[in-house]
This record gives sequence, C-alpha cells and structure tokens, in this order.
Amino acid sequence: MASTAQVSPTLHLLCLPFWMLLFYCSAFDSHDYANALDKSILFFEGQRSGNLPSDQRLTWRGDSGLSDGSSYHVDLVGGYYDAGDNVKFGLPMAFTTTMLAWSVIEFGSSMKDQIHNAQTAIRWSTDYLLKASTTTPATLYVQVGEPNMDHRCWERPEDMDTPRNVYRVSTQNPGSDVAAETAAALAAASIVFKDSDPSYSNKLFKTATEVFEFADRYRGSYSDSLNSVVCPFYCSYSGYHDELLWGASWMYRASQNSSYLAYIQSNGLTLGADEDVYSFSWDDKRAGTKVLLSKDFLEKSVEEFQLYKVHADNYICSLIPGTSSFQAQYTPGGLLYKGSESNLQYVTSTAFLLLTYAKYLSSNGEVASCGTSTVTAANLISLAKKQMDYILGQNPTKMSYMVGFGDRYPQHVHHRGSSLPSVHAHPQHIACKDGFQYLYASSSNPNILDGAVLGGPDNKDSFSDDRNNYQQVEPATYINAPLVGALAFFAAIPTTHSG
Ligand SMILES: *[C@@H]1O[C@H](CO)[C@@H](O)[C@H](O)[C@H]1NC(C)=O
Repeated sequence: MASTAQVSPTLHLLCLPFWMLLFYCSAFDSHDYANALDKSILFFEGQRSGNLPSDQRLTWRGDSGLSDGSSYHVDLVGGYYDAGDNVKFGLPMAFTTTMLAWSVIEFGSSMKDQIHNAQTAIRWSTDYLLKASTTTPATLYVQVGEPNMDHRCWERPEDMDTPRNVYRVSTQNPGSDVAAETAAALAAASIVFKDSDPSYSNKLFKTATEVFEFADRYRGSYSDSLNSVVCPFYCSYSGYHDELLWGASWMYRASQNSSYLAYIQSNGLTLGADEDVYSFSWDDKRAGTKVLLSKDFLEKSVEEFQLYKVHADNYICSLIPGTSSFQAQYTPGGLLYKGSESNLQYVTSTAFLLLTYAKYLSSNGEVASCGTSTVTAANLISLAKKQMDYILGQNPTKMSYMVGFGDRYPQHVHHRGSSLPSVHAHPQHIACKDGFQYLYASSSNPNILDGAVLGGPDNKDSFSDDRNNYQQVEPATYINAPLVGALAFFAAIPTTHSG
C-alpha cells in the first residue's frame, strides 16, 4: 500500500478551532485562491472552438471549426476542444458543463467579479449543446472530428484540415450515457441562468427534458453505437446506468418536479444507487449522484434519499486515512492518486465533492459516519485544501501544476494551440506533419495556456515536463471544471499570511 497523507481525523483536534487550522496550515491566502480562480476560468477561452468574440482574453487563439456540421446540414460551430487536440467530444464536454454549472450553483456566491466569466464559460458550451440537440427526429450530435485522423497531426485548431466528421446518436443507435449527461448539463445550467436570463434558462430546461426522455426511452451505450470513434478516447466504460441516474437527479434538482423523484425512487437501485465506486469522472457519475441527492435527505428529510447519504458517506470515508473504510492511495507528498493518466482530474473532482458535501453536512449540523468514527465538514475541507495547495505548488517538486500560476509551472504543455506559434504571429498555414517539430522541440510553449491544470505527477510525486508525456502534461476541460468551484470556496475564506 502506498503511503498515506498526513490527514487524520485527529488532526483538526490539534488545530481547533477550525479557522485556526486554515491560518496555521495555509501556504496561500484568499488573494492567491482568487487569482487561481480567475485563471481556472480563463483556461476555457483557450479551448474555444468557433467564432471568438471581441472580448476574448487569450488573444493568441483565433477562429476555428467555422464549418463544423455544414456537410451534414447542421450548425455545430462552437463548443470546446476537450484537451490538447482539436476534436469536440460530446461526453466530456457535457460533463465539463455539468461540473462548471455545479461549481456556480454551490459556490457562485463566492466568485465575486468572476461570476460573469464563469457564466460565460458555461454558456459557450450550452449554446453548442442546444444546437447539438434536435428533437424531431430525436437525435443528439455527440462529436465533431475524426479522432484517429486528428491524432496523426499536430496542427493548430485554426489550421486543421483533418476530416470534421459528425457523429450522432439516435433512436436506432442510442447513447443513453452521452444523452443523459447532456441532459444533466442543460438542467444544471438552467439553474445557473434562472435569475440572470430566465428565458435562456427555460430553453435549457425544456431541451433537457427532451434529451433526458430520449436517453431514457432509447437505451444503449454510445460506445456500442459509435465504437472506434469514441473508444478508446472517451469510451463509456461504466455504461449508461450511472448517467441516467445522474441525469434524473439533475432534472429533479432543477425542477423539483415529483415525476423525477418518482423516477429516482423506482429506478435508483437498478441504476447503481447502492453501488460504491471510489472515483468520480467524465465516465462514472455514481459518487457525484450520491453527494448530489444527499442534499435532499439532509435538508428536506426526503427519506427515500437516505440511501444516498449512506453511500455518500462511504465515498467520503474511503478518502479519510484512519477511518475503517479508508481505501484511497496518496503519494508521499499527500496527493490523492488514482492512476498515471491525467490523475489530477480525480483530484479536482474529489476536492469538489469534499467541499460540496462539507457544505451540505455543515448547513444541516450533520457529520459523515465512517464505521465507528465520524468525520466532520472541517475534516473534509482540510483534505480538499491540502489537494488544492498541492496543485498550486505546495508539493515536493515545488511546482505549480496550474499553468501561469506561481513562479514555476510546466512549460511544455501538451496542447496544439499553446505549443505551435500563434496564428497572429505566424499566419502561414502549418500543415499536419509540419507541426510535429513543435511537439518534439525542447523550447517552452510560445503561448501560455493560462489556468490550465495538467495531468500532474506520478505516484511518487515525480513530474516530467516533457511535451510528449501527455499523461502528465496534457490539460483537459474536465480537470478544470470542478476546480472552479473548489477555488471559489477557498477564495472566499479570509486568511492571513502566516509566513
Ligand atoms: C414533470 O415532468 C414530467 C416529465 O417530464 C412532465 O410530463 C410534467 O408535465 C412535469 N410537471 C410539471 C408540473 O411541470
């Protein structure tokens, strides 16, 4: 077993009261977290596809993908590239959107002047998801770009000339996973825009209703329907049950409509309500659903959801060293470690769930039950903070894994646009194979992908800032999306410099 983080249930007793813990253990102050929050949202501008607006702040990017969908007579301009390449993958894009929206729902009141940028980042995606959802006949466009061809080139998005194939799921070729995640994204975003733009919010929710119904009625995994263009890239390894329950939970959260409550009650067990899964990602939504539905049990005593609180506790307890159900792995430096590829996605999603669960618990005077011991909201917050601080530079390599944050951060980000010269600096076309000299060059990326959090170090805290080491140096929208909420939480907590 790998060594564990020095976070134990007794730690907070030594540091009582809770606020003192933050003072005492803080490497960063609220100003630093606010700065990181700004950047974490700015990153999404680097991932934009489509027509860039005049207020685009990452100015090294240009317009791209302007005829996406046209050969299929559908407008699919816009949305986000998922990571370092030029494909628009629907499943991770929808999950990213759900997590950005959940970040704003829980922690938007702490975002201050960044709330507008956060909403803009969500809308960039939901505008696209609305275009991708057509209901007569029921069809959801779930991908633009042929990933195998795309990956054979190293090209700027502004230059790309690989096939912009369009892929969809339909009643004959269903994709309940991608469709239910899209419904979750639209429903969660409808909550975000409820006050600021009610008509947009209504449109999002109405479309979510239709997309969820399509997901539920025509059941199947998009991995079966689309196969080699979604696998192994974003294969739905966990199947579609988790997304159906997650989607229904967001429909319920957005509407409080009792028909979704009834759906969750009658389908929950067959859709994984009592299955304990210890990671939360673009593929597997089970842990997130447990936390999400716990709110209703804790706040409104919806008895039917007690099951979700029990399993949310199981998930949370698995992360806390010293409890009987502990089973996570931490690096010697204290980072949660799930796997060698893009590990920080699990760290940010876990930190978000820790903070959200802490919020639900503390506002209802509750604790998590871990066998014979209990874990408090303060325990969860201190573990989340340790993970955030590690990402931002308090770690054995003394490097920030957020690009542009701090004195030392990775220089060789695995990202086509960031690593190739900007189209504004070098307007001549750089062809497919000609770009590879930039992938393999030892020089730093010419364009700073501000705010991108990368895959991160290995299980021994080692990190190799090598552009071809995509497992560690590639960014992804779903790494940053839950981070936005977590950073907002810490940005709002007053801290003092403790030296
Ligand atoms: C609740 O949702 C169901 C399913 O989408 C719908 O048929 C019904 O009209 C909704 N009820 C209300 C009050 O909106």
